Amino acid sequence: MTVLDLTSAKRRAAARALDFVRPGMRLGLGTGSTATEFVRLLGARVAEGLKVLCVPTSKGTLALAQSLAIPLATLDQVPELDLVIDGADEFDPQLRLIKGGGGALLREKIVAATSARMIVVVDASKEVARLGRFPLPVEVDTFGLEATRRHVINLARVMRLPPNVELRRGAEGHAFVTDGGHYILDCAFGSIGDPEALARSLATIPGVIEHGLFIGLASTIIVAAATEIRLLGEASQ
Ligand code: A5P
Repeated sequence: MTVLDLTSAKRRAAARALDFVRPGMRLGLGTGSTATEFVRLLGARVAEGLKVLCVPTSKGTLALAQSLAIPLATLDQVPELDLVIDGADEFDPQLRLIKGGGGALLREKIVAATSARMIVVVDASKEVARLGRFPLPVEVDTFGLEATRRHVINLARVMRLPPNVELRRGAEGHAFVTDGGHYILDCAFGSIGDPEALARSLATIPGVIEHGLFIGLASTIIVAAATEIRLLGEASQ
């Protein structure tokens, strides 16, 4: 797909997700370029009178939603959501995801875990037979960064994955800092044979705050290709 096709696919996936939104819903708003398309479309509906209450998954999405006058709440005010719409960096046939390319994986996962339903909006380039083409983001505490990185490298060796674990850096070469004040390790493990086992093991490492494997969270994936749209998982509206 060309860049133009990709942009159009993201917009069409986002537009299809709007069909699942009902008046009065409490919504989680994802992060990234595809989720941004959804928030813009939702903003237009809100301007026309749709009543929803939304919890954003990042400071960036918060600012966008505010600029569109979308009614917002914190997760403390609304701790249970009906639906979250978010993007993904990768998905496989079991609806497992890699997320965190935009650095918002922690809040995205907290919001997804408290939502009755998660709808993922993606263009077809995100589809893989096995997760791992996209380096897995792992959010870590700033304290003991190098020690944590070594733990992750050791885990990769034990699981027979390539131990490529790099600190994410921003445009000027400084360490990228998440909305929660943490760092991200980008783990280029290649094809991940057992995502569940990797997820469990990463969670045992002190210093790992959260990882970008989203397993058992997505209910529906809306996949937009150049001309067609496919729904994976639960298709009911
Ligand atoms: C943000 O941290 C990510 O999880 C995004 O959901 C993911 O990177 C997808 O972003 P795009 O829609 O921009 O590809």
